[in-house]
Amino acid sequence: MTTNYDSISEEYRKSKFQPWRTHVESFSVFEVLGSVSGKSILDLACGEGFYSRILKHHGADRVVGVDLSQGMIDLARKQEIESPLEIDYFAHDARDIELNEKFDVVFAAYLLNYSQNLDDLVRMCKTIKRHLRPGGRFVSVNSNPNYTGSSSAMRKYGFERDATPGVDGEPVVYRFYDEKGVAIEVTNYHLNKSLHGEAFDIAGLRGLKWHSPRVSPEGLSEFGESYWADMLKYEPMIVLEVSNQ
Ligand SMILES: C[S@@+](CC[C@H](N)C(=O)[O-])C[C@H]1O[C@@H](n2cnc3c(N)ncnc32)[C@H](O)[C@@H]1O
Repeated sequence: MTTNYDSISEEYRKSKFQPWRTHVESFSVFEVLGSVSGKSILDLACGEGFYSRILKHHGADRVVGVDLSQGMIDLARKQEIESPLEIDYFAHDARDIELNEKFDVVFAAYLLNYSQNLDDLVRMCKTIKRHLRPGGRFVSVNSNPNYTGSSSAMRKYGFERDATPGVDGEPVVYRFYDEKGVAIEVTNYHLNKSLHGEAFDIAGLRGLKWHSPRVSPEGLSEFGESYWADMLKYEPMIVLEVSNQ
């Protein structure tokens, strides 16, 4: 039941223009990533290349994007042809890809939440491990396993997400609305935080840290503090990092 992005690649791309994407999602990602200048970065579940391009614009030396969806990769390559950034894109399952290359950073925006069980999660974590150089870091923004809001609590930001299920492996449906109120649906899966700790441990990645989302100063001044209160209270997404010690 994993969402097939081939048919919604363009609509998903547009959902990245919602203000919370810039002021909370991207801002929180870069707070944890720090400087990427001169670094080599593997972007797993790169989609149509949203973060791959930003990472390049932030000075990354080499960026490789991998996504399961051929439609997403086609869209990423189309943008690469229109505005070349020397990013390589591959359509492949992150659970078993082998690029025979080590990176300073492996990054993923919304990959781990496609794991339906511990086995999926361990396979993704092993992919991360075998593509990280010693001392390298994995940084990710992900659906928060501890989201505390209702299914409609995020509607004012342009989307809805199911309340957190009590059982691992249960689906979590997101609905992203456009300006006309039409929604696309994507389905993630719930796995609790301690299963993530277990999977990283099995893969040999250490020092797992979870970082609550934050709002950029620009987002605060443009929309005001009260606008962001529910997002910061309920935390629909979360940033995490581990290192390859
Ligand atoms: C919510 S989108 C995020 C895309 C991109 N990271 C972004 O932030 O714009 C999730 C992406 O994960 C991809 N995906 C899901 N399961 C995957 C897997 N096993 N291997 C690689 N990509 C996967 C989907 O095809 C989709 O493009």
